[in-house]
Amino acid sequence: MEDFIDVFLLEMKNNQDQKDSTFTKNQLNTTVSDLFVAGTETTTTTITWAVLYLAAKQNIQARIFREIKEIVGTDRLPSLQDKRNLVYTEAFIMEVLRVCNIVTVSLPHTCAVDTKLQGFDIPKGTTLLPDIDSVLFDPKIWGDPEEFRPERFIDEQGTLLKPEEFIPFFTGRRNCVGESLARMELYLFITALVQRLELMPPEGTTLNINEIDGVFGLTHNPKPFEIRAILRKE
Ligand code: HEM
Repeated sequence: MEDFIDVFLLEMKNNQDQKDSTFTKNQLNTTVSDLFVAGTETTTTTITWAVLYLAAKQNIQARIFREIKEIVGTDRLPSLQDKRNLVYTEAFIMEVLRVCNIVTVSLPHTCAVDTKLQGFDIPKGTTLLPDIDSVLFDPKIWGDPEEFRPERFIDEQGTLLKPEEFIPFFTGRRNCVGESLARMELYLFITALVQRLELMPPEGTTLNINEIDGVFGLTHNPKPFEIRAILRKE
């Protein structure tokens, strides 16, 4: 048994006598294409924002490179085993996920039972659009939400913090099914990039993050920008 498709095919076989089974070929095709759509645009957009922040914030990039050099070295690529030791790098990825907030408004959810929340009556059947942005940028939670500050996710002992308000993948039982895969992909791509390349603004220019707006589409994307990538010699 290798993956999701194997498990699904097995369930199709086990349910073949049941007329109303949802384990059908059509359902398998749709689910797999859902995973591709939900899993590619989101991760690539986050990596694009990360590249922009790395190029614009040279001091942060230098600190990530120092951490990678100290813990992994430059003779081999960073692996998932190194992940828990690359605390500043992880905090950087979390801050990218918070600030870039690519899924600003989460997927619609239906209220399952009559609910009272903070004085509001929400009848059963109401469609709710959770506003993730209002949590990731709440000054009462973060203090200075507009600042790009990976340190906010590290405590005084140097341990990575996981605040419950950090919800770029939303929260609850129907939160993003791809969160752990996405966190692995972001880590592997971003560490490999910084280990091998120095990312900078184009020669003779500066990159001002505040001038590079986001565009709202399927996800929140940065407007096109240029950077310089130079192979590291260290
Ligand atoms: C940086 C990357 C990603 C972010 C920020 C992200 C964010 C989200 C958010 C906010 C939701 C809505 C959750 C809800 O409304 O409760 C969601 C749902 C979902 N995501 Fe992701 N996602 C990412 C990557 C991925 C990947 C890599 C996959 C799959 C391989 C994936 C598959 C899905 C699916 C299938 C859903 C719908 C889940 C459901 O309705 O039960 N996502 N994602």
